Amino acid sequence: MLQPNNRVVMISGANRGIGLAVAQALASAGYRLSLGVRDVNAINAGDFGDDAIVVPYDATSDSAASAWTKATLERFSAIDALVLNAGVMFPVGIEDEKEEELDTMWDVNFKGPLRLVRAAFPALKACGHGRVVNVVSLSGKRVMSGGNLGYSASKFASLSLTHSIRQSGWDDGIRATAICPGLVDTDMVSHVSAPDGEYKITPQAIAATAAYALSLPNEASVAEVLVNSRLETML
Ligand SMILES: NC(=O)c1ccc[n+]([C@@H]2O[C@H](COP(=O)([O-])OP(=O)(O)OC[C@H]3O[C@@H](n4cnc5c(N)ncnc54)[C@H](OP(=O)(O)O)[C@@H]3O)[C@@H](O)[C@H]2O)c1
Repeated sequence: MLQPNNRVVMISGANRGIGLAVAQALASAGYRLSLGVRDVNAINAGDFGDDAIVVPYDATSDSAASAWTKATLERFSAIDALVLNAGVMFPVGIEDEKEEELDTMWDVNFKGPLRLVRAAFPALKACGHGRVVNVVSLSGKRVMSGGNLGYSASKFASLSLTHSIRQSGWDDGIRATAICPGLVDTDMVSHVSAPDGEYKITPQAIAATAAYALSLPNEASVAEVLVNSRLETML
């Protein structure tokens, strides 16, 4: 297994929800963290170990990914892993003419992560054990509601990004894992109740999954982790 040993991890959307849980878990494990958030006052670097930084990052900005990557390299001189977590969900179905929401989901859930991977790829290649953990969704694997078309489409694209990273980075030791959870107990789905007798997944459970994916050696790559809180047929 790979040990944290001060490895440097960039986490997007680390100020709340799953991203915050991942940052807390990785800080406890001994990783050095570069936390990309829209509002840098939303968190304190000191809460994430002795050697964490908080950097402005808006996934919709063309230049934010390269600026965040540059700031990370200036501080740590290396990048070992990315956790692509920042995301948004708006209800856009077949008959909804909500172009702005559709474009925002495409930007934040797909193009932003792509720009970040592109910016960090040279550093990930250089370390020989680069890792990308992509927080996708079960909505990137199957469609259960017509009203979720826009989000689902952006997450199917996000899953394709994970597999493209695996293909493009394999020979340089880069391994990518898509984590695809069902309902996780965060602000994003606070308006959705878990069906009777069922539960939402805790952000901490997803954080533990991300930490596990980061720990696997090059010869044990896990491409996708599907995380269910209830029984469903996947294929
Ligand atoms: N909750 C679920 O049921 C669930 C299930 C499967 C997958 N996911 C995925 O898990 C990831 C995290 O979601 P969550 O549940 O933790 O949601 P959340 O609590 O709503 O947090 C979303 C995070 O994304 C950030 N973000 C949103 N737009 C951004 C932008 N333009 N630039 C940079 N950061 C931005 C938010 O920052 P601000 O605080 O600045 O808004 C926040 O940190 C998302 O990719 C989501 O699609 C969630």
